[in-house]
Amino acid sequence: MRLEVIVLAAGEGTRMQSSIPKVLHVVGGRPLLEHVLNVASDLSPDTLNVVIGHGGAEVKARIEAPDVAWVDQAERKGTGHAVIQAMDNVDPSATVLVLYGDVPLIEKTTLEQCIAAASDGIGIVTVEMSDPKGLGRILRGADGRISAIIEEQDATEQQRTIKEVNTGILAASSATLAPLLASIETHNSQGEYYLTDVISLAASSGTQVTGVNAICPEEVQGINDHIQLAAVERHFQRREAERLMVSGVTLADPARLDLRGTLTAGRDCFIDINVVIEGTVAIGDNVSIGPGCVVTDSELADGVVVEAHSVVEGAIVGSRCRLGPFARVRPGTELAEGARIGNFVETKKAIIGAGTKANHLAYLGDSTIGAECNIGAGTVTCNYDGVDKNETHIGDGVFVGTNSTLVAPLTIDEGAYVAAGSTITSKVDSEDLAVGRARQRNIQGWVPPTKRK
Ligand code: UD1
Ligand code: CA
Repeated sequence: MRLEVIVLAAGEGTRMQSSIPKVLHVVGGRPLLEHVLNVASDLSPDTLNVVIGHGGAEVKARIEAPDVAWVDQAERKGTGHAVIQAMDNVDPSATVLVLYGDVPLIEKTTLEQCIAAASDGIGIVTVEMSDPKGLGRILRGADGRISAIIEEQDATEQQRTIKEVNTGILAASSATLAPLLASIETHNSQGEYYLTDVISLAASSGTQVTGVNAICPEEVQGINDHIQLAAVERHFQRREAERLMVSGVTLADPARLDLRGTLTAGRDCFIDINVVIEGTVAIGDNVSIGPGCVVTDSELADGVVVEAHSVVEGAIVGSRCRLGPFARVRPGTELAEGARIGNFVETKKAIIGAGTKANHLAYLGDSTIGAECNIGAGTVTCNYDGVDKNETHIGDGVFVGTNSTLVAPLTIDEGAYVAAGSTITSKVDSEDLAVGRARQRNIQGWVPPTKRK
């Protein structure tokens, strides 16, 4: 049977107190709507419709989703009205699944059960909440069957004590849903077309309504304000941390890892506390990431050790490299195996050969550096002349003494030496020693100044 998904994302999100459309607020580094679209795509629907309105242009621009059919809801007249706007896109023989753009952590297995329940009528995802405030309550008849959903604003005191709530997510055949949508009205405290009204209409016309339990309240937590956003973020992080641990990663503390993207890890990796992973990061086997590191869009091969408080972005790090503590590895850095980037060393667009060491206090930018070089403390590649960026090329086995200033464009051929404290402005040939500093002179009989009385 065809499956058509309708995601509601037109609401303003007044309670966010923000000029950003609600569904573009972020959980785990990704907009809420992206989470919903990802789980929807996992169901391989025939069409994926997203109803947008408030900030619609911004939403479209931000979300890269070639498979999405955007549906405009020019005036927001309620969740029922929003679904009606998308029904024209829906094949009459299809099953329709309605998702909410502000309920990002819904899981595929729950949706599959909801879709299965739709074969008997309407499937609706519900959950028991200890504090159901603000949510639609599920009303059940004497036979235990769902008979209606009543919004909090329209509920009696008695009804408000009900803990089972509507998550908003439902599935039904288009043939069942379309006529029910056509009969909903706006006789409620908000004067809106409530999607939830299809439930009482269905129940009273003998259509079976089946409740599907969500796994836990957090899975179906909707986001209306920043407190709920933070709660969902924590739940998301816990879930991702558990996935990593199940896949074999050791986490010093699952509550102190923040994943804002995708991490794939090999075997026997260790991640210490307060690490932030952003974008797409892949780590091999036996990788260790120390406390307080931020790793963004990078690949770390087997046996890499990133020591405390290092920031690694856009880098390809070869096996058994050691970075940090306090290393800053910037985009375009490629380190061959066993290279060492130590404390307070910054690299940018630097291709660095196997076994090369820059252990302390250096800036290596727009550079290619061969294998087995030693880059002394305080070495700076002067890549910027105020107008252009210029390159430094260093061959294999070069020894650059401490506090050297390498003025690019510059080539230092293999096996060359640069004396400590040099300013090097012209090419150094293979095996040569370049000394680019004033000669020391010692003044004999020097009388130190004395204090004035
Ligand atoms: C809705 C449900 C409530 C449920 C709760 C779960 C209704 C009437 N109420 O309430 O039973 O417990 O979700 O989170 O359905 N939207 C549109 N167009 C509109 C109005 C809303 O696209 O005209 C979208 C919003 O962007 C949002 C979703 O629909 O993604 C839900 O709307 P919201 O106003 O947040 O509904 P709730 O009051 O939370
Ligand atoms: Ca909501």
